[in-house]
Formats: sequence, C-alpha cells, structure tokens
Amino acid sequence: MKKIAVAGTGYVGLVAGVCFAEVGHDVTCVDVDEKKVKLMESGTSPIYEEGLEELMKKNNATGRLRYTTDYRAAYCQADVIFIGVGTPELPNGDANLSYIATVCRQIAESVEKDCLVVVKSTVPIGTNDKVEQFIRDFLVRDVKIEVASNPEFLAQGTAVRDTLHAARIIIGTQSKEAEQLLREVYEPFGLPIVAVKRRSAEMIKYACNDFLALKISYMNDIANLCELVGADIEDVAKGMSYDERIGSRFLNAGIGFGGSCFPKDTKALKYLAKQYGYELRTIEACVEVNTRQKTRLFEKAKSRMITFQDLKVAVLGLTFKAGTDDLREAPSSENIKLLLEQGAHIYAYDPVGVPRAKLEFPEGKLGRGEIHYVTTIEEALKEAAICFIFTEWQDIKELPAAEFKNKMRIPLVYDGRNLYDIEKMKEEEIEYYSIGR
Ligand code: UGA
Repeated sequence: MKKIAVAGTGYVGLVAGVCFAEVGHDVTCVDVDEKKVKLMESGTSPIYEEGLEELMKKNNATGRLRYTTDYRAAYCQADVIFIGVGTPELPNGDANLSYIATVCRQIAESVEKDCLVVVKSTVPIGTNDKVEQFIRDFLVRDVKIEVASNPEFLAQGTAVRDTLHAARIIIGTQSKEAEQLLREVYEPFGLPIVAVKRRSAEMIKYACNDFLALKISYMNDIANLCELVGADIEDVAKGMSYDERIGSRFLNAGIGFGGSCFPKDTKALKYLAKQYGYELRTIEACVEVNTRQKTRLFEKAKSRMITFQDLKVAVLGLTFKAGTDDLREAPSSENIKLLLEQGAHIYAYDPVGVPRAKLEFPEGKLGRGEIHYVTTIEEALKEAAICFIFTEWQDIKELPAAEFKNKMRIPLVYDGRNLYDIEKMKEEEIEYYSIGR
C-alpha cells in the first residue's frame, strides 16, 4: 500500500482521498482551511455527496485517512501526491491555474524523497509539462519528481460510486516507472486501466466532457425543432437510444447544462483551440445552444404574460441537477436574475440548495423584485401565478399534477425538466409548457 497525499478537498480531491483510504492506502488530505479540516476530522463532509460521510467516518477510525493544513508534513514522505484543486474559469474562458501553481511550489519546498505528482484537476492540454518543469525549478532538495495526468470522471451526486466503480482509469505518464507506480495505486480497485502519454490523458478528459455537453446541446437543439414540427423529444430520444452507437444516456433535453464542469470545460477547450489558431466549431455551437437554452422557458413565459411585476412566481429546484447542493452555472440562477429584473416575487423551493442560493440572492427585496425561500413545494405554489421547474428532484417529480391546479392562482407551469405527462396535465386543465414536446 502507498503513502498518498491529496491536495484539495473539493469534489475531486476529497472523494479520491477517501476512496484511496477505503481500498487500503495511507492517505493525508491537505486543505488550507483549518475549519474544514476540523470538520472532516469529525467525520463531517464539507460537500453534500451520497455515501461520502459513511466512508469518511469508517476510514478516519482506521487511522488510514487523515486531514491537515500542514502541507509540509503531508508531502515530505509521500510516495504519490495527487493534486485535486480547482481550475475555475477566467473571464476569457481559459482555466485559472493559480491554485495548481501554489500547490506545486509547496510540493517543491516540501518533498524529501523521490515522488510522483499526479494531476487530477482538469487542466488544459500541455499543463502537466509546465507543472513538472515548475516543480523541478523550485525544488529545494536533490530528489526526482515526475508528473502524471490522471483525470477524474466522477459526476456530482454519484461521486463515490463513480470513483469506486469507474468505467476506466486513465493514466497519462512519460515513463514506465511512473505508469507502474500509478498502476499499483489503482490495482486494488480492480478497474480497467488505459495507459497513454500525458497530453493524451489531458485531452481525453476534455474530449469526454465536451462530447457529453455536445450531446446535450444536440438534444436541446433537436427538442426545439420538435416543438416547431410537432414531434415529441421524449419519443425521439427513446427511439434513438436503441442504437448502441448512440447510447441511451445523456439524451435528456431540458433547460441546458450547468455545473462546475461542462460550462467551464467547453469554454476552456474552445479557448485552447483558438490559441493554436484552430476554430473548434462543434464546441462553439454547443456553448451557444446552451446559452440560448437556459432562458428559453423564461422567454416563452414573457411572451405569454403582460408583466411579472409583483406576481408570485414559484421556482421549484435551484441546483444545477438533482443530488447536489451545487449552484454553479445552474440555469435557475440566470432565470431568477431575469425574473427579479422584471419585478417578480419569487418563492423558491429546493431540498438542499437554499443555503448556497442565499449567498447569491439574499432573501428579501432585490432590485425591482423579491425572493423568498420556502421549505415546502406547497408554500411555493400557494396562490402563485406561474411556476418554473429547474431541477429534477425526486419530490418535485412525485408531486401529483393536481397540486398545481389546487394550489396556484393560475395553473401555469414551465417545466425545464420534462417531469410531467402532457396528457395528464391537459386532463387537470393545467397550462403546461415543457421542452421539445
Ligand atoms: C460531469 C461529467 O458527467 C463527469 O463525468 C465529469 O467527471 C464531471 O462533469 C467533471 O468534469 O468533474 P457533473 O457536472 O457533476 O459531471 O454532472 P452531469 O450529471 O454530467 O450533469 C451536467 C449537466 O448536464 C447538468 O446540468 C445536467 O442537468 C445536464 N444534463 C445531463 C442534461 O441536461 N441532460 C442529460 O441528459 C444529462
């Protein structure tokens, strides 16, 4: 078993660290935030992720999983150091590598023996060459450092399962020794390993995320066309899904993709291509379609209503998808901004996203409008003139259609997730708009 240090305890770093401990490695997770470290030591996860806290508690107890702000202590004797810090988007679309650079300098100052540094964060192609050079430039001891790429494919909400049962592990190295060491780290997982050169590994990550984003934008584009020609996107997707070359997943049309990955990674690859003088036309289109898709329902509603001023608007779902409390690039956010500009009084419900939403939209009067957060769907719908659905949470899915009729002043529903049966909504005399049907 290996002595592993993990830099960063966000979705990528923490889940990786916990899962490495779960399969038997000796793991220290490093974070700059003392409070967060204390929280994790007590077995509390700073992120909402199914199954994570159980594994933290279990592995904290074995002593195989530790947390610290003392990076020197964590890095000095590590066999392998994983970097899982964020690479957020810069205003120009490029990835911000400043967190990675900080970790690199700390590694260079701290390591006391040969070690492999593995970048898990999503970084533009070629970054790992620079990471390696940067660490070597700042090394203070005579040790051998090599950098490998090991992109992460977990999705939020299913992070632990995605890690322990990943479809494959991608290892990008420039030497056989580094490849062998990473194979040993992953051996206990018993998963297929694809070993490639470092730049190919970096590209695999972007190619996967952007392909999935493209698939969603494609379905959204086809959905919009379905509305115009009188076809139903749900039936179309079903018909497509039987073709194994297309596959059955990620065919759901909706309110557009959000989250911390697809929006950022599509823009980053577009930016990277441009640096090389290449226009990545497919991804450019994917980004454009997604931007338009996010406000499509709002535009439809706007053309239906004289005004939103002082109208009670129910918002069901705030997070960018179900199963997470993350609101980054959530379509709800764009729509709430527009509704507030129009003077709406929003009553928003989300089973887990409210605390984070309050940071972006503090409760009360905001500009021309107001936003209030409620703890039940019923409170949101009561006497509302219009309802928007932005997230496919189970309790929203399970809401009987009649509730819209019974609770709302006007039973007018704009559903960005196609959660309800069109015929059923018609029967209940609900004016219902969804995507692509
Ligand atoms: C995504 C990828 O799925 C992961 O494989 C990847 O590791 C991760 O990004 C990352 O790079 O870290 P995530 O952003 O957590 O994971 O969530 P997804 O489940 O992929 O959903 C992304 C967005 O696409 C959501 O807004 C979701 O609602 C939307 N989506 C997804 C659709 O609109 N239709 C679909 O059919 C599927």
